[in-house]
Amino acid sequence: MKVTKAEFVISAVGPNQYPEDALPEIALAGRSNVGKSSLINRMINRKNLARTSSTPGKTQHLNYYRINDSLYFVDVPGYGYAKVSKSQREVWGKMIEKYLMEREPLKLVLLIIDLRHPPSKDDELMYDWLKAYDLPVCVVATKADKVPKSRWQKHMKIIRDALVMRAGDKFIMFSAEEGIGKDELWEYIESTAQL
Ligand code: GTP
Ligand code: MG
Repeated sequence: MKVTKAEFVISAVGPNQYPEDALPEIALAGRSNVGKSSLINRMINRKNLARTSSTPGKTQHLNYYRINDSLYFVDVPGYGYAKVSKSQREVWGKMIEKYLMEREPLKLVLLIIDLRHPPSKDDELMYDWLKAYDLPVCVVATKADKVPKSRWQKHMKIIRDALVMRAGDKFIMFSAEEGIGKDELWEYIESTAQL
């Protein structure tokens, strides 16, 4: 997709703030600091529309970005950040769970994993949970620029095995830094969201 327009719409704390225009939504889930916001910026060719930070836990609400007036990227708060209080974590957890389970325009969840490391327990739980609720999921292994190309296959297998992915489950290698995987991910988004 050629992105000609990308705008931040709202940082939503709950359903009454979600957009009502029923455009398809692509949600990004993953550990705090894994590179969710950076992935959005790379996909839309913008340096810092989605706020990125080396401090984990920056994205705290559901941040909506409208692309070409035809879809939304929804940046979901990252999980697994120890410094967030337990009560705060529970509030987010409930909001995210409700969003993922009940949001009608949600067409695809991108589960963002760090290619360098085996998935965390939280990543495994998240993938299981998404599959259990029959949500379309695409695993995106990011920071591929940090792993020598000769080791990509090995790292991919470790991730696929840990998540118990099936042969037909979608996996894309990505780098926000270098743009690896951008075209492949756009194609997958366009076909899944029927754009
Ligand atoms: P939270 O909003 O806190 O959940 O984090 P996030 O998942 O949105 O991560 P963010 O995009 O803010 O990136 C975290 C850090 O990883 C930043 O320092 C980014 O520059 C870096 N980063 C993200 N993607 C890549 C990538 O593909 N390659 C490299 N080398 N660094 C990356
Ligand atoms: Mg973020």
